[in-house]
Amino acid sequence: MFNFDMLIKLKDGREVKIEKVQSERVISRVIINGKKVSRRQINNYILTAFYNSKKVASFNVTRPTTVHGIYYSKHVGEIGYFVAKGFRGSGLSYYMVYDIAKSVLNRGIKIILMNTIPLNKASITLFSKSGGKKVGLMGKVLKINKEYVDSLWMESTTENIIKNSHKMWEKKGVKELNS
Ligand SMILES: CC(C)(COP(=O)(O)OP(=O)(O)OC[C@H]1O[C@@H](n2cnc3c(N)ncnc32)[C@H](O)[C@@H]1OP(=O)(O)O)[C@@H](O)C(=O)NCCC(=O)NCCS
Repeated sequence: MFNFDMLIKLKDGREVKIEKVQSERVISRVIINGKKVSRRQINNYILTAFYNSKKVASFNVTRPTTVHGIYYSKHVGEIGYFVAKGFRGSGLSYYMVYDIAKSVLNRGIKIILMNTIPLNKASITLFSKSGGKKVGLMGKVLKINKEYVDSLWMESTTENIIKNSHKMWEKKGVKELNS
């Protein structure tokens, strides 16, 4: 587990503190005849942004576990994100994508996946403008409000994400105060 802070300033002058956490936990353990034969750990990287001590955004990258029983390689991470309404459109989202992508690249994650529903335009645009491409659509695999909905997968190399999101937060007037 590690923990350190970054301070950034948004174009409107608000200063936002970003705290990083990396956690590891055992996610599965197979025991046969009393002997442990399998033990997988998950790495979960979390960035949380605070404004006046109030949480205003949370981003995470998790090493996914399995697809049809086959383990993803360790170089793959899946991103998830949330920005509070008063902070949307400020460039904070691009900064958080950039910052978490840098952290996970240092820990061997070379590919980042993002999964959402096709209606989530903010999420899709954020990831596209950060360099992501649509790579797959799984038809009607989600059930939301009693409706079956498609699941969209997007992907990019982590390096590409870092490059593009950096351009975007600079364009939005975000400044790093303690880089
Ligand atoms: C997804 C989320 C993190 C994006 O953060 P954000 O601060 O809203 O991001 P931005 O406002 O900078 O939007 C990113 C881009 O999408 C565009 N966008 C936002 N809403 C849009 C919409 N409804 N239609 C089309 N484009 C949209 C923005 O204009 C921006 O593009 P720009 O940089 O060219 O201006 C945020 O909206 C959120 O927390 N949503 C709720 C949780 C969620 O959906 N999480 C993702 C689950 S997969």
